[in-house]
Amino acid sequence: MEKLMIAGGRPLRGTVQISGAKNSAIALIPAAILSESTVTLDNLPELSDVAIYCELLEELGATVERQQDQLKIDPSRLVSKPMPNGNVKKLRASYYLMGALLGRFGEAVIGLPGGCNFEPRPIDQHIKGFEALGAQVTTENGALHIKAKQLQGAKIYLDVVSVGATINIMLAASRAKGVTIIENAAKEPEIIDVATLLNAMGAKIKGAGTENIRIEGVDSMHGCVHSIIPDRIQAGTYMIAAAATRGDVIIDNVIPKHLEALTAKLQEMGVHIYEMDESIRVVGQAEYESIDVKALVYPGFATDLQSPMSTLLTQTKGVSILSDYVYSNRFKHIPELARMGAKIKLEGRSAIIEGGKLSAAKVKATDLRAGAALVIAGLTVGDGVTEVTGVEYIDRGYDHLVMNLSNLGAEVWRQQS
Ligand code: EPU
Repeated sequence: MEKLMIAGGRPLRGTVQISGAKNSAIALIPAAILSESTVTLDNLPELSDVAIYCELLEELGATVERQQDQLKIDPSRLVSKPMPNGNVKKLRASYYLMGALLGRFGEAVIGLPGGCNFEPRPIDQHIKGFEALGAQVTTENGALHIKAKQLQGAKIYLDVVSVGATINIMLAASRAKGVTIIENAAKEPEIIDVATLLNAMGAKIKGAGTENIRIEGVDSMHGCVHSIIPDRIQAGTYMIAAAATRGDVIIDNVIPKHLEALTAKLQEMGVHIYEMDESIRVVGQAEYESIDVKALVYPGFATDLQSPMSTLLTQTKGVSILSDYVYSNRFKHIPELARMGAKIKLEGRSAIIEGGKLSAAKVKATDLRAGAALVIAGLTVGDGVTEVTGVEYIDRGYDHLVMNLSNLGAEVWRQQS
């Protein structure tokens, strides 16, 4: 096991390149198995979750070839095989194998997903979608058994706006007979990215990015080349780190529109932001105003940036309220920030954050974005070395983190713990 060591207190300065989006990649890789020939994904991030997903596809008989940031998936020899245990339990997004295998073979046996379990994360809306498409779903020994004689298009209203359920239903419905309409669909950019890939593979999907998605099922799908969108959460994390360290950073290879909610909140605090075509420059300031932040579904403020943002809010001169309306209890980073001297009270789904000085401490990342929050906290304190354990969570979503931060002038290194 490794830990991250951070001797903070230096403003981040320079340019950082953002890689392809994790939450797109781990949906696009399983989507490729709906094709009968090779799908090439460009701008692939180098993350542990991506590596595990590639292994999962190989276990199913696909040929997967990776060269730098390009991935070629040849699913022509794919077989229908139960996956009740093993790698599926390491990933949250292994649930996309349910929709993809159901679409390709009319059946799937997938162990209930693992991943960052910062709170119970039900998949009832995924199941509701599969059942509406005509599948029978049962749970046996911790695995979901899904089977359909013939998937049939249907109108599906999601009771909860869910990224995963929207994508999973799109995957299965692409190969159903007739038309499926998803109502109250999630609108995240990653959903548009998956629909773009599926359409390039021959699917007929309209309306991705709005709350009504129409999917006309097709009989077969084929290979294509697709470039993954930039990771808006990774980009947002560097934006927050630049502001928290009073740095001056250009975040390159981003779609600024995907970061509008964060940009608006940073500007409200007094951070200077300059948007260009494919990059954003963040210039930190000595003093920040306290603000209120509400994490909501897209295009609202991303829940995945809620934890990093809570660190930045410790740098203001007043009291901020940060609420999460997507996950009610995604606050495992708060007691760790408190170890570093943060004055934060939890009330229901909100954190009340009083600005003040942080100091170096030994802290533990319990999930990916909690880890990002603690790294940013470590970068802001100059009175010693912050030790962050649980690096394996951070590796799920931030590739080349140590190299990127070092290039921006930070003193960060990995060490055996
Ligand atoms: N929900 C249900 N039932 C369902 C599905 C979701 O009640 O069947 C609830 C969840 O409990 C949550 C809300 O709906 O309160 C939204 O969950 P969603 O399904 O949108 O989340 P997800 O698809 O499981 C993805 C990302 C998360 C990100 C959320 C929200 C992936 C693999 N994960 O999760 O990313 O926080 O959307 O944007 O794409 C991360 O990157 O750190 C991460 C956790």
